[in-house]
Amino acid sequence: MKSIQVGLLGAGTVGSGTFKVLQRNQEEIKRRAGRGIEITMVADLDTARAREVAGEGVKVVADAREVIANPDIDIVIELIGGYGIAKQLVLEAIAAGKHVVTANKALLAVHGTEIFAAAHAKGVMVAFEAAVAGGIPIIKALREGLTANSIQWLAGIINGTTNFILSEMRDKGLDFGTVLKEAQRLGYAEADPTFDIEGVDAGHKVTLMSAIAFGIPVQFDKAHIEGITKLAAQDIKYAEQLGYRIKLLGITKRTAKGIELRVHPSLVPSKRLLANVEGAMNAVVVHGDAVGTTLYYGKGAGSEPTASAVIADLVDITRLHTADTAHRVPHLAFHPDAMSDLKVLPMTEVVTSYYLRLRVADQAGVLAKVTGLLATAGISIDAVLQREADEVGGEGSTQTDLIILTHDAREGTVNDVLAELQALPTVLQPIVRIRKEELS
Ligand code: HSE
Repeated sequence: MKSIQVGLLGAGTVGSGTFKVLQRNQEEIKRRAGRGIEITMVADLDTARAREVAGEGVKVVADAREVIANPDIDIVIELIGGYGIAKQLVLEAIAAGKHVVTANKALLAVHGTEIFAAAHAKGVMVAFEAAVAGGIPIIKALREGLTANSIQWLAGIINGTTNFILSEMRDKGLDFGTVLKEAQRLGYAEADPTFDIEGVDAGHKVTLMSAIAFGIPVQFDKAHIEGITKLAAQDIKYAEQLGYRIKLLGITKRTAKGIELRVHPSLVPSKRLLANVEGAMNAVVVHGDAVGTTLYYGKGAGSEPTASAVIADLVDITRLHTADTAHRVPHLAFHPDAMSDLKVLPMTEVVTSYYLRLRVADQAGVLAKVTGLLATAGISIDAVLQREADEVGGEGSTQTDLIILTHDAREGTVNDVLAELQALPTVLQPIVRIRKEELS
């Protein structure tokens, strides 16, 4: 049978890996897919780079629309990224009846509803395994492997750049700015790392996983997102003394009131596997009612790991493209007419536990006042750590750090009590609040 014909938009790192892996494993891939898969056309503004990536026998063009207009192309791979031209090209490819494979988490997390609806109407597939956690087949696991389950929650380290930075901060006791510069020098962090360090990239990924886990529309605008830029080395150290590591987690959870959807630094017990995911690696923990807790670990970025996910999508489409559209796997795991209207909760309604650090005057009654306000608000304390004033502020210091771990509390209640605590004359600096997830 004739090979399925693929057009590639964007000949960068992942595109190059896709060519290499398709070529190296072509025989095995063909035996799995039932027919050959061949990239026959590549579009990139840098045609010299595209030519180098594609090798002989592949048509190279500067204009992506030539690929979309080619009637021989069955599948378009979009590896341009961003919400701009990539969105137009994906919608045009769908309108032209092409199946689409994309690694573009930003595009799908923000415009997924429009894109999936267009694909559904046209009877084509939009596959995006490479958009979440690179080479880890987490979309496949959530959408198919765990399909028997009512998923309760998932939590993931889904941004390698920030995990690398946090690992280095903990290992070397360095502050955020120093490690970021080092990460950029080593090529881990982009020249503009904003999306990574501010939690936006993780927000895109957890939005997609949440939609698949709970059958809700993608709603990036409702996700609560905090990055790691304000984390101090000191808090990483105190967390460690209390038996925790700090990770940037993407979390989504089903609760009686609605869906939690959030990204923020979190204390995780050091004994959890997730706490021991170090460097640029990614991992996602998913808890289903039948299966219990499952863990998926691997490389979340890079040329061949991401190509592994892109090619898995190519194989899926090759197997399924002749199937009746009703018999394909739905984009978001649930059929479009059977989606849930569960609402995404505002952050004030989230219930979790907290690490609080207060720089206080080292004098009688301060601890009692602080714990008294927490008690009045109904917030129960799990542990308290108080440092020697000398250790915190040097010899003769009259200030100290008071670290409090709470039991579960409603975020809105915590916000109110933090405002009261902050107003105390004995609380000398802005209070540090980091959420804590037991993941049990
Ligand atoms: N920039 C991402 C990361 C990889 O650091 O994990 C692509 O999503």
